[in-house]
Amino acid sequence: SIYSILALILAYCFGSIPTAVWIGQAFYGIDVREYGSGNAGATNTFRVLGKKAGIPVMLLDILKGWTATNLAYIIGVSTTGGYHSVAFVNYSLALGIAAVMGHLFPIFAGFRGGKGVATLFGMILAINLQASLLCVLVFLIVLLLTQYVSLASITAGFTYPIGVTFIFPVSTRSVVIYGMCIFLLILVTHQKNIERLLRGKESKVNLFKKKTT
Ligand code: G3P
Repeated sequence: SIYSILALILAYCFGSIPTAVWIGQAFYGIDVREYGSGNAGATNTFRVLGKKAGIPVMLLDILKGWTATNLAYIIGVSTTGGYHSVAFVNYSLALGIAAVMGHLFPIFAGFRGGKGVATLFGMILAINLQASLLCVLVFLIVLLLTQYVSLASITAGFTYPIGVTFIFPVSTRSVVIYGMCIFLLILVTHQKNIERLLRGKESKVNLFKKKTT
């Protein structure tokens, strides 16, 4: 229906809220995209402005993905077959991806956004809690061992399709396909990070450092 199309647009607009850019501008007077990795995401906000800014950006970006994925429930739009149908799961996934596209190409910030990791996490959290928590575990282990957020994101992204296929299988095949697409998307958005990782030039994030500047 027309409402399902409007909801997709709304999800895109929601994902377009450039939390990293706006929090940086509102509270620190800077655009985080001009510093660090140049990315409008939680990691770079953390890197440039510290955890007081980075943690709220992360939580809000997760919330964007989670809310968008649940948007059909929230505004009461359903698909043929109702809320428990495969069609509805597919539609929810499409809403989540619309929000991720908003995060990557935000209409409210000149289409220069982030890499979508937190927003994707919000999306998978809304779909499969167990597999999402497994991804968090893998993310934290890799981050603590290497201090590379990008590598942690990529490894966690790889874990998701494995998780939904073999460890906590979901009944809907489309979730598995989406899971693989999510991993591919993370590889695409992290191309520069992958190049830097291979050259040994990727910047590390020190989680425990006290701000000295
Ligand atoms: O959340 C994105 C992260 O995986 C990499 O961010 O700023 O280090 O490119 P960044």
